[in-house]
Amino acid sequence: MIDPTKTDAWATLSDLYEGFTPDLRGWFEADPGRAREFTRTAGDLYVDLSKNLVNHAILDTLCRLADEVGLGERRDAMLRGDRINVTEDRAVLHTALRRPRGDVLEVDGHDVVADVHEVLDRVYAFADQVRSGEWTGVTGESITTVVNIGIGGSHLGSVMVYEALLPYKPEGLECRFVSNVDPSDIYEKTVDLDPTRTLFIVASKTFTTLETITNARLAREWLLTGLVESGAIEDTDAARAEAIAKHFVAVSTALDKVAEFGIDPANAFGFWDWVGGRYSVDSAVGTAIAVAIGPDNFADFLAGFHAIDEHFASAPWKENVPALMGLLNIWYTDFFNCRSHAVLPYAQYLHRFPAYLQQLTMESNGKSVQADGDPVTTATGEVFWGEPGTNGQHAFYQLLHQGTQLIPADFIAVATPTRALRDGDQDVYELLLANFFAQTKALAFGKTAAEVRADGVAEELVSAKVFSGNRPSTSIMAPALTPSVVGQLIALYEHITFVEGVVWGINSFDQWGVELGKVLAKQITPALSGDEAAFAELDPSTQGLISYYESHREG
Ligand code: F6P
Repeated sequence: MIDPTKTDAWATLSDLYEGFTPDLRGWFEADPGRAREFTRTAGDLYVDLSKNLVNHAILDTLCRLADEVGLGERRDAMLRGDRINVTEDRAVLHTALRRPRGDVLEVDGHDVVADVHEVLDRVYAFADQVRSGEWTGVTGESITTVVNIGIGGSHLGSVMVYEALLPYKPEGLECRFVSNVDPSDIYEKTVDLDPTRTLFIVASKTFTTLETITNARLAREWLLTGLVESGAIEDTDAARAEAIAKHFVAVSTALDKVAEFGIDPANAFGFWDWVGGRYSVDSAVGTAIAVAIGPDNFADFLAGFHAIDEHFASAPWKENVPALMGLLNIWYTDFFNCRSHAVLPYAQYLHRFPAYLQQLTMESNGKSVQADGDPVTTATGEVFWGEPGTNGQHAFYQLLHQGTQLIPADFIAVATPTRALRDGDQDVYELLLANFFAQTKALAFGKTAAEVRADGVAEELVSAKVFSGNRPSTSIMAPALTPSVVGQLIALYEHITFVEGVVWGINSFDQWGVELGKVLAKQITPALSGDEAAFAELDPSTQGLISYYESHREG
């Protein structure tokens, strides 16, 4: 393991940080070329890094850090399928999911790209059948609602992309997403549905996840009860089995467990243990998306990922957008002590993007030990969060502009809104974009006391109205929110996450931190249904909480 803090580059960065006084106003005034010098492109993405708290020397040193921690070797090892997920002894090959047909990537003597396209072809055929009405429910009705049941990586990506690409969905077909084991989730998502026209996709890499299997059982019950009670099917085992075959498909790496659940393996789409859950939206886990946007658009989505993969694989660090954005995050986390990072899409269709990124970034890099088990040597894993603009402006931007914390922010916008512009919409859209441009300007350049006074503000209010500026942001723009651009954005953040993990020396591809809670929930469950011995085992705080529950529950 290479300790990043022991590298020459880290020592230089510490020196540079010591004497560093950010002055974005001054830097832009002194160097009219700054915006151009710090702007990069990757695929269709135009990425303006100029409002970050860096100069050329810092950026060069961050790139040197990338070399000194072996980022190039680690990236190549990932891309060629080495088992870099050491704690689970697995390759990390989500990039193989978007390689074009005909590419070859042999892992253990086997071409994984051929496997990927075989499954994709089955997903596409299924999507076409549902979209055309050829796939019918048990009574011969076409499907109008697809309900995806999954959680974490088997949910967040699918719902985020579905929402991002809503304009690509045909009328008369919708997808819904059930994830929470709170029964109100599945209740609300199914209450108004017609079972004869509803199809469930049960998505679970392991097919053991409590939430998903529980919700799949509830869905099966809902379907069969609805069909039997309405007389749509007879109350026989054979009729039930036929209904399940027509109304349930599964996505999993555990096809044996899919069969145990009662779903016909012919209706299951597989993927592989080298695809991490939070990196799986572009595998068969995205089947609901393929149904919604159709195979051609899904292929464009994958091509978008691949364009960024190629950029990440080949661009020198100084031009490499995921590398630069990852390295900037290191600069802020480990030198400025920033603890969170805002992602602010100025696109309502991207409203689930920050939530999606939370799993990608925080389940990947929220670690205190390095890949070899030794403690990390510096802070890791920022808290990613955000909301679409302009909503966030009327909620938390106050803290971004004038709070005591420094929070780097990524702003995302597209030039052309996806839906055809109706009369007058262009003006409204420009209001959105004007806000997008205004916010990074305000964060970067602020407003001085002299400028506030020049507005005629009373002296006692001047300090409250000063904006310090020098609050860092990156602006990402794309021509439009196409399937390809959505794929590009996801791949960008996947690789940013990877870069940070490599610098910190951590394994970004395991998630042991989610296990303890799962084990304890299993232990606690019997105590909720009167098991006194299980209750006695618990700590006093948990006992108190359960007692409150028991004395307040109704029914
Ligand atoms: O509990 C965390 C987790 O394992 C995530 O990493 C994963 O995306 C999610 O649960 C769902 O897992 P599965 O797809 O196996 O149901």
